[in-house]
Amino acid sequence: MKKVYITRPIMEAGINLLKKYFEVTVQPEERDLTDEEFLTAISGYDGVLTMLTNKVDENTFKSTPSVKVFANYAVGFNNIDVDMASDYGVAITNTPNALTMATAELAWGLLFAASRHIVDSDRLTKEGNFIGWDPLGFLGQSISGKKLGIIGAGRIGSAFARMAKGFNMEIHYNSPSRKKDLEQETGAIYEDLFKMLPKVDFLAIHCPYNLSTHHLIGERELALMKPSAILVNTARGAIIDEEALYTALKEKVIYSAGLDVYENEPEIYPGLTKLDNVVTCSHIGSGTYESREAMSLLAAKGLVDILINNKIPDNCLNKEVF
Ligand code: GLV
Ligand code: GLV
Repeated sequence: MKKVYITRPIMEAGINLLKKYFEVTVQPEERDLTDEEFLTAISGYDGVLTMLTNKVDENTFKSTPSVKVFANYAVGFNNIDVDMASDYGVAITNTPNALTMATAELAWGLLFAASRHIVDSDRLTKEGNFIGWDPLGFLGQSISGKKLGIIGAGRIGSAFARMAKGFNMEIHYNSPSRKKDLEQETGAIYEDLFKMLPKVDFLAIHCPYNLSTHHLIGERELALMKPSAILVNTARGAIIDEEALYTALKEKVIYSAGLDVYENEPEIYPGLTKLDNVVTCSHIGSGTYESREAMSLLAAKGLVDILINNKIPDNCLNKEVF
């Protein structure tokens, strides 16, 4: 029987599907394996279900030649060197679609929280300091009718844009290619990043992280934004220069930010979490029961397709290996 290793406990549905076809080992601890432990643990397995915190690179492919598939339990795959995997004949899958709505929903949650002081107001109440309705308390930024900027109009960015329709927002977006369907459906306007930045009241980041999006938003870009602007990032931390963002928030170059991801997770830039004008979640974008279950099934199906059925699944990122 072929063997599959899962690097963290995940939703049962996927594990149960895998158990029908494979001998399955689930790393039981509520922590990530170190890089060294990871290589030792997966040695001799045919397939590995990885978390976005597992680094999979040339050294991995060299050290563990038995592994023919890495199924990443995430849509983002910047933790995996996919080109190198292809050179070694190793297939890589991710979990597109399964988490689109959950991540777009969290981005809206952060946008609301960062514009309406929801977290600060909650803290005040829980600390017993609610002394009555305050005519000037916790004033925030209205959302309806404002200008929304989106960087990256893939699945998540497009879902996020569609959700904005209920708020009657003017949508601007930047993406590697134009999305005519999205434009028709939402009136979204395709725009150069530097033209978009000074216009928008909200900026939501939904692009993948790679060399071309590293520090896409830095000091220069933040300086172009309105002082009332709100920045939301549920994609990958290093798309923003976190030090520059810290300074911009501290000096009120922009109004606030809602973040779910950080440049050096789980580290966060010193002082960032001490600021009042930032809401900091802990990389929970895909974290709904529905989404994580769908992710577990999609990852499991990919492993079954490739290792058992000799089929190339749609979510394979390097179909050229077959
Ligand atoms: C989460 O960050 C993912 O890429 O799925
Ligand atoms: C990015 O992976 C997206 O789905 O938008």
